[in-house]
Amino acid sequence: MKPQKTIQKSAAEELAPGQSVPLLKALHILTHNGGINADSRRKLKQVQHLAQLIKPAIDAALAEKPEPVLADLGAGKSYLGFILYDLYFGPAGRGRVLNVEARPALVETARKIAAESGFTRMDFVEGTIAESQVGAVDIVTALHACDTATDEAILFALKHEAKFVALVPCCQAELAAQLDGAKGLLDQLWRHGMHRREFGSHLTNVLRGLYLEAHGYKVRVTEYTGFEHTQKNELIFAERHQRGNPRARAEFEKLAKEIGASPKLLNFIEAGTQ
Ligand SMILES: C[S@@+](CC[C@H](N)C(=O)[O-])C[C@H]1O[C@@H](n2cnc3c(N)ncnc32)[C@H](O)[C@@H]1O
Repeated sequence: MKPQKTIQKSAAEELAPGQSVPLLKALHILTHNGGINADSRRKLKQVQHLAQLIKPAIDAALAEKPEPVLADLGAGKSYLGFILYDLYFGPAGRGRVLNVEARPALVETARKIAAESGFTRMDFVEGTIAESQVGAVDIVTALHACDTATDEAILFALKHEAKFVALVPCCQAELAAQLDGAKGLLDQLWRHGMHRREFGSHLTNVLRGLYLEAHGYKVRVTEYTGFEHTQKNELIFAERHQRGNPRARAEFEKLAKEIGASPKLLNFIEAGTQ
């Protein structure tokens, strides 16, 4: 790739030390002239922030293994994967970044940018998260993976025995649809459509946290970044420390039953497959 290092002052303020300007131009986060528009600034802020939040997990994986693997699921244009490689995996000289994305055109462009950037330890898998079977994975990330794709990311993390999982869920429709017309002691909580969407989304993320705990992860749920950068602002960060947790599993089943919700994750827990 022909290096184009010029950058405007307002854009320069957004960059991490040592961050590649040619890469950000190739990703169209920076314009050809080194400027940045409002949408790209928001996206860059989101991705840089997640990169910072998961740096300790990447450092731990690099300290523990010679070639740790991070898988970013529902990668879109692979902004997160590229920035993690540029900031951490590239300078470390080891480890791989794997990007899973269902849309072929995005995968093709990302592969081209990786080749032009000399990012030889980036891999791209075209297909769904649920159907992807790769080798061992140490860290799973999923930034705004649509609807139940975040659940696929959780199941992927379990299947690949990932030690760290960082999820920033996107919109969530599965439980809101199930709650529509559902009766119960608490049904005032979801009588109105707007409350149903918000409560459905909240319940989904509560169940996701419990599901990870049931599988032996320690879970932290925090605000991801400023609301001015994204409305979808919940970070679920999990680190595995034991094989399973029967108490969390019972809480998961009890909550789903009391509300009358049956997310796909519940089927997996009942079947005992995950
Ligand atoms: C909202 S975008 C976010 C992209 C990227 N993570 C980011 O934050 O820039 C969600 C992406 O997930 C992909 N996606 C949705 N469901 C998927 C699935 N089941 N398997 C793989 N990719 C999926 C979509 O094609 C889309 O590119």
